[in-house]
Amino acid sequence: MTLLDAAKAVRENAYAPYSRFKVGAALRAASGTIYAGCNVENVAYPEGTCAEAGAIAAMVAAGETRIIEALVIADSPDPVPPCGGCRQKLAEFAGQEVTVTLCTTDGQARTLTVGDLLPGVFTAAHMDRT
Ligand code: THU
Repeated sequence: MTLLDAAKAVRENAYAPYSRFKVGAALRAASGTIYAGCNVENVAYPEGTCAEAGAIAAMVAAGETRIIEALVIADSPDPVPPCGGCRQKLAEFAGQEVTVTLCTTDGQARTLTVGDLLPGVFTAAHMDRT
């Protein structure tokens, strides 16, 4: 199973009746295991969750906390970028050098790093004086 296969498969299960925009995310954790997640919307719109958040939750629930590779896919005109909140969520568990491949369902792909997506990331070190 590749990250792309896992993200494509989980995207099929996305619950997106409001936006109709299905997203799939797959993460490879330090053990090599792949964790996948899809977006899960809610009629109270802000309660919806992104695909990346679902994949991270699955990883943490399984006892892992280090991402070594990530991929996101959606049916968008250009490779779909993680939202701002998901960039911060990825940065919690991935080093700045970790690659995030942004994909479209028609085969486009663009690979960036967590550092590219969130330069100047807020980290625990910024709280060192507290
Ligand atoms: N969405 C994700 O799942 N991940 C992203 O990085 C971008 C946006 C979802 C949230 C919502 O269900 C739908 O896409 C439209 O914003």
